[in-house]
Amino acid sequence: MAFLRVIPILYVASCSLAVVKENFKTCEQSSFCRRLRGFKAEVSPYQLDLTDLLVTDNALETKLINTETNSHFKVSLSAVHGDIFRIQVDEVMGLYPRYNPQYALNGEPQPAKLRVVDKSKEHITVQYSDNKATLHAKPFKVEFVKDDNLVAVLNSRGLFHFEHYRTRPTESENEVEHQKIEDPGAWEENFKSHHDSKPKGPSGIAVDITFPGAMRAYGLPEHADKLPLRTTNGGEPYRLYNLDVFEYEVDSPMAIYGAVPVLYAHSPKHTVGFFWHNAAETWIDITNSKDENVMSSLVNLVSGSKESSVSAHFISESGIMDMFVLMGPKPRDAVKQYASLTGVAPLPQYFTLAYHQCRWNYNDQDDVTSVVANFDIHDMPVDIMWLDIEYTDGKKYFTWDPVKFPNPDEMVNNLTSTGRKLVVIIDPHIKREAGYFLHEDAVANDYYVKNKDGTVYEGWCWPGSSSYLDFYDPKVVDYYKGLYAFDKFKGTTDDVYIWNDMNEPSVFNGPEITMPKDCIHHGNWEHRDIHNEYALSHTIGTFKGLVERSPTRRPFILTRGHFAGSQRYTAMWTGDNAADWSHLAISYAMCASEALGGISFCGADIGGFFGNPDMELLQRWYQAAVWLPFMRAHAHIDTRRREPYLFSEDVKNRVRIALRLRYAHLPLWYTLFYEHETTGEPVIRPLFYEFPEEAEVLDIDNEILVGNAVLARMIAEPGVSTISVYLPGGPTEQWYDIEDFKMYQGGTHNIPVSLDKIVAFYRGGNIIARKDRPRRSSSLMHNDPFTLYVALDNKQTASGTLFVDDHASFEYRAKKYLYLHLEYADNTLTSNLIDKTDYPTKEWVERVVIFKPPPGVKAATLTSKTLGTVDLEVAYTREHKALVIRKPGVNIREPFSIKLY
Ligand code: NOJ
Repeated sequence: MAFLRVIPILYVASCSLAVVKENFKTCEQSSFCRRLRGFKAEVSPYQLDLTDLLVTDNALETKLINTETNSHFKVSLSAVHGDIFRIQVDEVMGLYPRYNPQYALNGEPQPAKLRVVDKSKEHITVQYSDNKATLHAKPFKVEFVKDDNLVAVLNSRGLFHFEHYRTRPTESENEVEHQKIEDPGAWEENFKSHHDSKPKGPSGIAVDITFPGAMRAYGLPEHADKLPLRTTNGGEPYRLYNLDVFEYEVDSPMAIYGAVPVLYAHSPKHTVGFFWHNAAETWIDITNSKDENVMSSLVNLVSGSKESSVSAHFISESGIMDMFVLMGPKPRDAVKQYASLTGVAPLPQYFTLAYHQCRWNYNDQDDVTSVVANFDIHDMPVDIMWLDIEYTDGKKYFTWDPVKFPNPDEMVNNLTSTGRKLVVIIDPHIKREAGYFLHEDAVANDYYVKNKDGTVYEGWCWPGSSSYLDFYDPKVVDYYKGLYAFDKFKGTTDDVYIWNDMNEPSVFNGPEITMPKDCIHHGNWEHRDIHNEYALSHTIGTFKGLVERSPTRRPFILTRGHFAGSQRYTAMWTGDNAADWSHLAISYAMCASEALGGISFCGADIGGFFGNPDMELLQRWYQAAVWLPFMRAHAHIDTRRREPYLFSEDVKNRVRIALRLRYAHLPLWYTLFYEHETTGEPVIRPLFYEFPEEAEVLDIDNEILVGNAVLARMIAEPGVSTISVYLPGGPTEQWYDIEDFKMYQGGTHNIPVSLDKIVAFYRGGNIIARKDRPRRSSSLMHNDPFTLYVALDNKQTASGTLFVDDHASFEYRAKKYLYLHLEYADNTLTSNLIDKTDYPTKEWVERVVIFKPPPGVKAATLTSKTLGTVDLEVAYTREHKALVIRKPGVNIREPFSIKLY
């Protein structure tokens, strides 16, 4: 099969959208995937020598031998704080060092104490709290037990394989390689080392892990696929390799821009996570016993039992084998365990959660000013304007086009004087042009990634011939962060933020549109070793730049390429989707999967990047995007203009309502991001996260939970007048339609929908703080009052939280914030501070709305320290679905209670 080279022309939107699959490898075409997927031993040749054992407080170390090749490995099993086991395998005296990702972990995992509880020549069992791990010697296998239940088995299928660097490729293997690859130069497979011309040899690693009892597996973003991972037997494995895939297709395991190698195996009883800490190209086969054809192959794996199970086979091209088993037992535990390893997103600024308006490109600075003016004229809120690559002078980042953007200071000033912000794009490829300061600095100081022969690597991207900064070199990061200083990046201010695109990295003429694997990074690492981590290294540089530039403002960065740990620095979006219903439909699944992978701050381009959405699709997209953390409209340069004020009154009105609904819920989003930072809980959640015991929710991905209080159901079916919604929790759970307050019990409901309908529910038992006064931007809402929506459960109780601060600075880390616990019980609503902190604010409580209120309420009184006890007006809404308490008037800083009579 011929592999096509890709030229930039592919970036012109075509009318029929379709990925060119030939540009990207299949597992069969990827030599290590082919080899390791095909590795099947009757009995695993790997055995432990438990006579060679070192036990410390937190870990044990022993020797692993491939009995066929007599190669030796070191295995360590350690306990990590928070119910996590870590297993590492590396070569003993390998010819070359192997790479372990440098940036994914949020510091060294904290060790926990383990103790040996059982030991023989054949096995050793260690215990850590209610978790046990048993290493079996012959063959090598590790069993993980939680609460006396076997929940995971490593190498139960004997697919563990570690290609020792000493194992050279046989001649026939090399031949096969060359026959398969018509342009070996372009594909740069792995047989040459960078510092000598001797073959380095295959360096792949693989292992299987089986989860007895599991019914589904989730995770492994980024794929444009359904939320539950599907069985891949007989098809392509899921691939993790950061790639710029033009016109990616949905329902596909193909690699796209990001790679987060964590999966969760789930059943109503247990959820177990598995984090494969590796930055090289990775393929993962999934086998789920629920798929009939694989049932027979799986039933015997776990002591002949016929219970369900899921198994995964991880295959990577290089690196140390470094694995974390997250022992759960519930989805919430496993996801928090993962967050304890790779970190959380720091609280973003408030405005970042509002509506972002982007397009490739706004033509010039007047265009930017006029778009914002039009939003104002048409009474639609917007907070952030975005500039794509055309704002630069000839795609030279950190410069401005002198004709289209002659006066960025003035433009930025116009924008920010109305409370808005600007985001500009900065890509990692650098134009190779004499006289361009960045290129000249990079050449003079040796900042670029190298070819294997030590010369500077040159690829093709937007500017034409380009080279790529090597963020693995600390001196490059030092230099790079300085580029964001106001005196360097002229025209920027504290209110200008950054979009890091194309950082997979995208190389139009490179193998699979990316950097050749034998390029060399600082530390002598081959690009193959670090590939999936490159974007993360880029955004760390940007993050440092923004913190240094604006030390009192929280940075905002949007990235396309991402890896485990990216959440500590950036938001991400799902890249170049299309104006197609299938792409709207997949957006919740993609972001939910990212959220499980630690990256909550996710969104999909509203309207679809490629193509022109019809009005129904555009409106449905706005309505659905209200409920994803990052809300941005964006469009390809060849599409028709689609700022929402351009359309008919009807359309404008629906988009306006959707935007206002988003703005009304900003306090909720903000509180959830604060709680994400403090607890590691995702901001958006798939249904199984909150309802792990409910079999009906396992496959639902057109619904999403915002925190635990809001359930949104997107409408991604054109022309429908009724939709079916599953509300979890069973008959005792109460859900309230947020528009008409109608109450539904858990179960499946058919709901009539017009084009106006935004399908979302508050879950009974929650109090949601909103700001309902419509404004032009979020900054104008800071002092606005709150409306507290009290959605009662069947016990007539509810509770909630609210986080309040200055929306922008790091002062919340110095206790300058309010964190409220709101509670409703016994016909009384109370508000109290959770932490001993303070933040003086003008924000106050304007209204309380109680869903399914007690009958016969005639009056209410508010009691607080400064107001004393005052009478309040109350009124039922039509049909008595809600009770409204008017003007409590109390400052949100002050604890209060409101009693109903
Ligand atoms: C690719 C990005 O995915 C897209 O959003 C952007 O508009 C183009 N690059 C041009 O910068």
